[in-house]
Amino acid sequence: MKPTALVAGNWKMNGLASSQAELEALGNYLSDGSAADCDVLICPPFTLIAAFASNAPTGVAIGAQDCHTNKSGAHTGDISAEMLSDAGASYVIVGHSERRADHGESSALVRDKANAVLAEGLKAIVCVGETEAERDAGKTLDVVLGQVAQSVPAGSIPENTVVAYEPVWAIGTGRTPTVADVAEVHTAIRGALVERFGDAGNGFRILYGGSVKPSNAAELMAADNVNGALVGGASLKASDFNGIIDAY
Ligand code: G3H
Repeated sequence: MKPTALVAGNWKMNGLASSQAELEALGNYLSDGSAADCDVLICPPFTLIAAFASNAPTGVAIGAQDCHTNKSGAHTGDISAEMLSDAGASYVIVGHSERRADHGESSALVRDKANAVLAEGLKAIVCVGETEAERDAGKTLDVVLGQVAQSVPAGSIPENTVVAYEPVWAIGTGRTPTVADVAEVHTAIRGALVERFGDAGNGFRILYGGSVKPSNAAELMAADNVNGALVGGASLKASDFNGIIDAY
């Protein structure tokens, strides 16, 4: 059976905890009642998670953008999955390409972070994706399937793990792969998940991310084995995000 789609908004480093405007903006998500056919998630900066979790509109889950592998300890500037759970998060994004690039995160570390998320009873969104140079060199499937194999934990099941395919060159650029290219990569990821997890592999949600907006959401979301979107820039404006949700 086709998994229920997930439309997830990643606010990245945008939004101030001190601003009432952020809470008011949150109130506009799904104000048009469009969430009926998919799950909806907003991942704000850490400082907004608790307030958002207490004030989220019905049908909107709240998540985080990263976590440490440990529960607690001497890790200055980090945050644990247990803390995120305590603040009201139900999902944690791990392995976003901005973390892989800016913080040198390896797939092994991403897997350990995902394991920490699962151990806390939260859901992990494991990000994978090739750079433009890797794509130009014809290595897209090798890179993406390698990241899937190394970053998705052995204990993953469809209920606790989501895979997000985000071509690095499509993030925040306004450029997207063709629908056929998206379908090819998603179908290859599906095949790898089925090979590894058996029939359960068919139940994992595989999101597409990278310059998703209301005008291209319907065609991207209709591609084979695309089960939702991980949205950056267009998630910052409720009307745009709701427009993407309307693709379902
Ligand atoms: O996590 C979200 C992605 O990086 C996509 O960002 O929609 O701004 O391209 P974007």
